[in-house]
Amino acid sequence: MIEDQAKNQIPKEIPHHIAIVMDGNGRWALRRGLPTIAGHKAGAEALKKICQAAANLGVTHLTVYAFSTENWRRPSSWIVELMDLLKYYLKFELKDLIKNNIRLHVIGDQTRLSGDLRQLVDDAVEKTKKNDGINLIIALSYGGRNEIVHAAKAIAEKVKEDKLTFDNIDEEMFAKHLYTSKFPDPDLLIRTSGEMRISNFLLWQLAYAELYFTNKLWPEFSEDDLKAAIEEYQNRERRYGTTVGS
Ligand code: IPE
Ligand code: IPE
Ligand code: MG
Repeated sequence: MIEDQAKNQIPKEIPHHIAIVMDGNGRWALRRGLPTIAGHKAGAEALKKICQAAANLGVTHLTVYAFSTENWRRPSSWIVELMDLLKYYLKFELKDLIKNNIRLHVIGDQTRLSGDLRQLVDDAVEKTKKNDGINLIIALSYGGRNEIVHAAKAIAEKVKEDKLTFDNIDEEMFAKHLYTSKFPDPDLLIRTSGEMRISNFLLWQLAYAELYFTNKLWPEFSEDDLKAAIEEYQNRERRYGTTVGS
């Protein structure tokens, strides 16, 4: 079914926006007796593959959880290694992002990132902004609660400065103040590694996403696994609170 749609270029039932909690990198490395960072490298390679596969299937937005606000609580040596890896990929994968028509976006609390990482992020975002293929949205130093508080403060500020009135505040307006204001809500959330929780990811935006959990660890998540998730999505009935079959 998926393949037919890809061939016919009619991605009618393909989820437009897929969000992924790329979990299980540490366990993947541990099981192989490798250093943790090797798991994150393998995870980055998996992301490259899955992003291309998603683009080929007609997915327009792919949001991936790379580092949460809570991950700042991990040992500083781990954080440094992960941030170095991110810098490496932003530097050396930029050419491929441009070539593969991938438009990069980053969401999250950028104020906590180091100056050089922020610069690499800004540069990659700027240099891919004319690409009109898949939107790859990296959630970095991202937390759903942090995002909601950030939006509430921005709105309060505008009310204080008389740029908005209390009555202007509704769901649509609130969503415009989230980091994701330019993107549609995810249709499908995938979490790898067998954990069945959201871990502070896209709390507002996932309100009506279909949830899909797999035991596969992120570095071993393949194109076929992506297709299996999409196939399951295609068999779901999204009701949005209405009655069955309506
Ligand atoms: C998920 O992998 C990615 C990040 C948090 C950066 P983990 O590092 O959480 O991997 P596990 O859950 O320990 O296996
Ligand atoms: C969620 O994974 C965050 C990312 C994948 C970046 P965690 O491994 O941090 O989540 P918990 O701690 O198991 O909930
Ligand atoms: Mg984890």
